[in-house]
Amino acid sequence: MIDVLDRNAALAIAPELAEVFVSAFGYDEEPDGDRFATEQLPTHADRDGFKLVAARSEGTVVGFAYGFTGQRGQWWSDRVANAISPELAAEWIGGHFEVVELAVQVEAQGNGLGTALMEELMRDLPNRKALLTTWIDDRPAPRLYRRLGWQVLVPDLGWGSALYGLDRGMPVSH
Ligand SMILES: CC(C)(COP(=O)(O)OP(=O)(O)OC[C@H]1O[C@@H](n2cnc3c(N)ncnc32)[C@H](O)[C@@H]1OP(=O)(O)O)[C@@H](O)C(=O)NCCC(=O)NCCS
Repeated sequence: MIDVLDRNAALAIAPELAEVFVSAFGYDEEPDGDRFATEQLPTHADRDGFKLVAARSEGTVVGFAYGFTGQRGQWWSDRVANAISPELAAEWIGGHFEVVELAVQVEAQGNGLGTALMEELMRDLPNRKALLTTWIDDRPAPRLYRRLGWQVLVPDLGWGSALYGLDRGMPVSH
């Protein structure tokens, strides 16, 4: 079961999300769950267009993904804009949906949850363009994004991350 959470609902389960974050990223890093729950998530939850999707199994959160509408002047957008050509930056950066995290608890991986979370995260978004950075080497996450139609915009930004983009067609008019 996948729920769509707004700012308040996401912050209310920050510790649970942090546990998933630590499990998912624990294989080759030492992820800081406290920093995720008390700094990263609250900062991003205040951004325009924040959306988080969470998958539960028997009541427990086992995976989540989130993003928001990115703009110039924000750390990630400016860092990426400075690393790519001005033409590419003009085309892709600003008003894009920025996928920040996708994480599935280790024991729950390999069952299609990550794919389902990404599909739910991207469903019905108003943003025409979407961006994310991921590993440059061959791992489940980049394979998953490519299967879902994301294109590699820049294979290596210079710090071990690749830039992926998804052009979602015409924006939804409101
Ligand atoms: C990336 C991540 C979220 C994927 O989650 P997941 O739930 O395992 O994703 P899926 O199950 O949809 O797909 C993973 C693999 O399982 C396979 N799979 C899915 N359902 C399956 C099933 N029923 N039987 C067998 N294999 C299956 C998929 O084909 C895919 O194979 P591949 O890795 O060879 O391409 C997870 O690996 C993770 O949390 N990784 C660490 C954090 C991370 O890298 N996050 C992204 C940072 S950019």
